[in-house]
Amino acid sequence: MAEFSLPPNSVIKGNGKAYPAPAGATRTKSFKIYRWNPDDGQNPRYDTYALDLDATGPMVLDALIKIKNEVDPTLTFRRSCREGICGSCSMNIDGANTLACTKPIEEVKGEVVITPLPHMEVIKDLVPDFKHFYAQYASIKPWLQTVTPAPSGEERIQSPEEREKLDGLYECILCACCSTACPSYWWNSDKFLGPAILLQAYRWLADSRDEMTGERLDALEDPFRVYRCHTIMNCANVCPKGLNPAKAIAEIKLMMLERAG
Ligand code: SF4
Ligand code: SF4
Ligand code: FES
Repeated sequence: MAEFSLPPNSVIKGNGKAYPAPAGATRTKSFKIYRWNPDDGQNPRYDTYALDLDATGPMVLDALIKIKNEVDPTLTFRRSCREGICGSCSMNIDGANTLACTKPIEEVKGEVVITPLPHMEVIKDLVPDFKHFYAQYASIKPWLQTVTPAPSGEERIQSPEEREKLDGLYECILCACCSTACPSYWWNSDKFLGPAILLQAYRWLADSRDEMTGERLDALEDPFRVYRCHTIMNCANVCPKGLNPAKAIAEIKLMMLERAG
C-alpha cells in the first residue's frame, strides 16, 4: 500500500466544514475530503460530508459526484469514463493511490479519507497538475518509430508471439497512481522518469515493429532516468490495472546491460 503523504503545498489547519447526512438516512458514511482553492487565500482543509449509502452508487466516484451534484458544487475533481479506462479519477483513497471509479466504498472501513495524488502540485481540491508527468511522457517519444517503409499497401505485421510481448504494457492508462506512490519519484521526479513513464518506454522497446531501439536506450542511459528505481515495488502494489512497472524497468535495465555486452 502506498504510504499516505500530502501534496507539497499542503498545510492542513482546522477541520473545515462538515455536512450532515440527509434526514432519515439509516446507512450513512462519512467522506473526509482535501480541499484547497488557490483563489481564496486560505490554507488547505478537510471538509466532511456524510452521505446516505442507500441513495449513493457503490464506488467512491459515485459519492464524489453525489456530493458535487447535491451537497457542495464547489468540490473539484477529474473524471470521465467511470469505467477504469481514462485514468482521470486517480487520487489517494484511504491511504492508497487508486481510481475513484473502481474503488468500492464498502472496501473502506470507517471514514473515507480522500486526498489528491501525493507529491504532485495541486491545482484545486483533488486535481493534481500533470504537466511535468506529460512532459516526461512526451520525452520518451511514445509512438512507433521506423526507418524502413511499410510493406506497400500493408500493415506492419506482428506474429502472435511478438504481439504477446505487449501484454501487461499496452493496458496502462497513465493514471500516475504508480509514479506518485514511488518514493524515488517523490524525491527525484525532476530527473527520474518514474514507473509509469518507464513502463511506457518499455512498451515501445518491446514492440517488434519499432526500429529505434538503440536510440530509445541511448535516451534512457543516464544515472537518474532509469537507475533511480530501487525496486521498492510500491508501483506494482498500487497499479489499479494490475500492471507491474517494476518488472518493465528491470527489462529496460537488462536491455541496457545486454547492449553494453
Ligand atoms: S520499483 Fe522502482 S519504480 Fe516502482 S516504486 Fe519502487 S523505486 Fe519506484
Ligand atoms: S502502470 Fe498502472 S498505475 Fe502506473 S500509470 Fe499505468 S495504469 Fe496507472
Ligand atoms: S473516471 Fe476514468 S478511470 Fe475513473
